[in-house]
Amino acid sequence: MSGDDLLRTPAELPEFPMSRTCPYHPPAGYAELRERGPVSRVRLYDGRVAWVVTGYGETRRLLVDPRLSSDRTRPDFPVLVPRMAAAKLTALVGMDPPEHDIQRRMLIPSFTVKRVTGLRPSIRRIVDERIDVLLAEGAPADLVTEFALPVPSTVICELLGVPYEDHEFFEEQTRRMLMATGTAEEAAAAGAALVGYFDELIGAKLGGAEARGAAPGLLDELIETRLPTGDLSREEIASIAMFLLVAGHETTANMIGLSILTLLEHPEQWARLRADPGLVPGAMEELLRFLSVADELQRVAAADIEIGSVVIKEGDGVYLPNAAANRSADAFTDPDTLDVGRGTRHHLAFGYGVHQCIGQNLARAELEIALGRLTARMPALRLAEPVERLGTKPGGSVQGIVRLPVTW
Ligand code: HEM
Repeated sequence: MSGDDLLRTPAELPEFPMSRTCPYHPPAGYAELRERGPVSRVRLYDGRVAWVVTGYGETRRLLVDPRLSSDRTRPDFPVLVPRMAAAKLTALVGMDPPEHDIQRRMLIPSFTVKRVTGLRPSIRRIVDERIDVLLAEGAPADLVTEFALPVPSTVICELLGVPYEDHEFFEEQTRRMLMATGTAEEAAAAGAALVGYFDELIGAKLGGAEARGAAPGLLDELIETRLPTGDLSREEIASIAMFLLVAGHETTANMIGLSILTLLEHPEQWARLRADPGLVPGAMEELLRFLSVADELQRVAAADIEIGSVVIKEGDGVYLPNAAANRSADAFTDPDTLDVGRGTRHHLAFGYGVHQCIGQNLARAELEIALGRLTARMPALRLAEPVERLGTKPGGSVQGIVRLPVTW
């Protein structure tokens, strides 16, 4: 950070979060932040000053530093947008070791490569069924509502043992809870509605009632194995299930929708995938890096941390936008170019360290199958409206698009 930056008053610091002007590029302000140094200061909506890390090496170093806490119940945990003060996302992602590790260990077996390999035929069935409907109904269509959202929603419902017929309810509550422009009250009401929903579902499952057509899943496993032993309370199971449902469909839906848009905006890259399906797994890694949809990693310093020329003080808020690290020229050649054949490795789209995404194998399988089947079965896909008309999501949200009008 330059000496100048330290002399700035809070009012002179850049505001954070920043919003994208193009849905598939990070906010322009990230370049300015990077110029100030790999760790610089910003001002939050409530006037609080926090740190933002834009350097790739610094981001990796800090994400494994146990002095940075994820504990969202701490009164000094920074609030990025008002709704976060109320959002009930305190399971896993909002916890520190050792409590965090205990919960994570209970869930890991459900998300291993082996488990996900077993899910691939059913993911393929879900993807193909959606494409069958699109082809039968004909162009044009909105690929967000007809494909990008229902695919991960159906997959996470099957994995958890949640009835998909409730999808409109939980998709709507998720939107309300995560909407960056929403109020704290709206987010709190949506979080409470989701926890209430899971409490009721757990009650029905405990009472032996049919969960409206849903085959038993991870939720049933937790109820059967963890509740009687006292490893988890009913409330904790509801909170974990809610987080898995939200994290499992919202991020992946945005990633699928935005990936398709980005490829259609880069027709030469789309043509490469059509010509060589073997490129799809690598393309998916490159899209994860390039798009960095979950761009809101946040922590609070539990002790003073010296990093480069700055000292992050105990109690300071720290943001690690992975969209900045993933576009760093220190780590990636020509970082702002999308190249599906670059052999992308070591991107931070799933985070890093103890909180690294537990669902990454599942997300990869969904993305790979979705892109592979779409390029194979709908090769003539193209945008039905210019990208400028599709808008962007405000900073502080999972990044993506709300609609994707296409034709073929
Ligand atoms: C493309 C899709 C996805 C992206 C980009 C993504 C991204 C991330 C990121 C960046 C983190 C780290 C947060 C932090 O360090 O503060 C994370 C954590 C997490 N993700 Fe994902 N995720 C995706 C899909 C999924 C899916 C499908 C699931 C599961 C059902 C899932 C479940 C989780 C959980 C439970 C955590 C918290 C892990 C912990 O704290 O130990 N995610 N994800």
